[in-house]
Amino acid sequence: MPDRHLTRLTIRRPDDWHLHLRDGDMLKAVVPETTRHFARAIIMPNLDPPVVTAQQAVAYRERIMAALPNGADFTPLMTLYLTETTDPEDVREAHAAGIATAVKLYPAGATTNSASGVRDFEKVRAVLAVMAEIGMPLCVHGEVTDQEIDIFDREATFIDRVLKPLRKKVPDLKVVMEHVTTQDAVDYVRDSNKNLAATITTHHLIINRNHILAGGIRPHYYCLPVAKREAHRVALVQAAVSGDKRFFLGTDSAPHTDPAKLQPCGCAGIFTAPNTMSCLAEVFFAAGRLRKIEDFASLNGPRFYGLKPNEATITLVKGDPVTYPAKIDTGDGPVTVFDPGFDLHWRVETD
Ligand code: DOR
Ligand code: ZN
Repeated sequence: MPDRHLTRLTIRRPDDWHLHLRDGDMLKAVVPETTRHFARAIIMPNLDPPVVTAQQAVAYRERIMAALPNGADFTPLMTLYLTETTDPEDVREAHAAGIATAVKLYPAGATTNSASGVRDFEKVRAVLAVMAEIGMPLCVHGEVTDQEIDIFDREATFIDRVLKPLRKKVPDLKVVMEHVTTQDAVDYVRDSNKNLAATITTHHLIINRNHILAGGIRPHYYCLPVAKREAHRVALVQAAVSGDKRFFLGTDSAPHTDPAKLQPCGCAGIFTAPNTMSCLAEVFFAAGRLRKIEDFASLNGPRFYGLKPNEATITLVKGDPVTYPAKIDTGDGPVTVFDPGFDLHWRVETD
């Protein structure tokens, strides 16, 4: 039966399985926007310079902990940025010591601060073998970077050219295909019965490429992977609301200041941390699947990562439209909050 009669729903506190917190003043400004609703997050390592070694991850985690608001109950789950010179033993030790939860693979040049990413996948085989052995997941930015491949085809091409061969060579490696944007990726994940999951962002459940380009160019909807045509968005919503354990929330909330977004070559990234849970409630409710929001945001992620779901809860309450600030101020400049383009009727009450 559809869940459309619900006006309240209590769920386990959610986690964000893909988050950019940045550093310095930006970190201080954005971290409370995540800790308000989320208990844990997988922290992306694409700082400049990137977080490559266990030692760098420890230092970054300390900076995050120092930036937490008073009383916040939040655990940052750190990742290491995979390079062609990453030392497999450093990865092994970082995992054993609880310093790093996962390793992040950026194909070189795919997105913000990805210049030190991987060009030759043979060069990271030894690291991947160790990760398979110790059960440490690889988070993958799944886009090829070839200039001759159309930007809208880069995810589907990545699956065929990189992911399939890689998973054949290291079948025991746990892989998270991050921020999937296509029916192709959804199908690929559904066809696999082991060691593969995908995160889906809030914004890819809501926008398609028309939002970016029709009637004027809207930089605040530009991110990578870029939003695709409507049929792909619909496939993502179906995967998210299905309850299928292989799909879970990774917001990819990626703050850039307005001046960095609004220029001839603007940065990729959408800042969804503040209003994600209200946006998701709207999407799941519209699909008649509100109850499945708990699987997507609070249960499937920890299950894949071998962690317990959170004990604390949040309650989604339906009422008059809730408002979130259009921008937040940071020491680096204003950051625009994602505008879903519709009213948000679900507010979030925390324990
Ligand atoms: O839109 C994006 N922004 N996609 C990414 O992959 C990186 C992120 C960022 O760090 O700004
Ligand atoms: Zn990201």
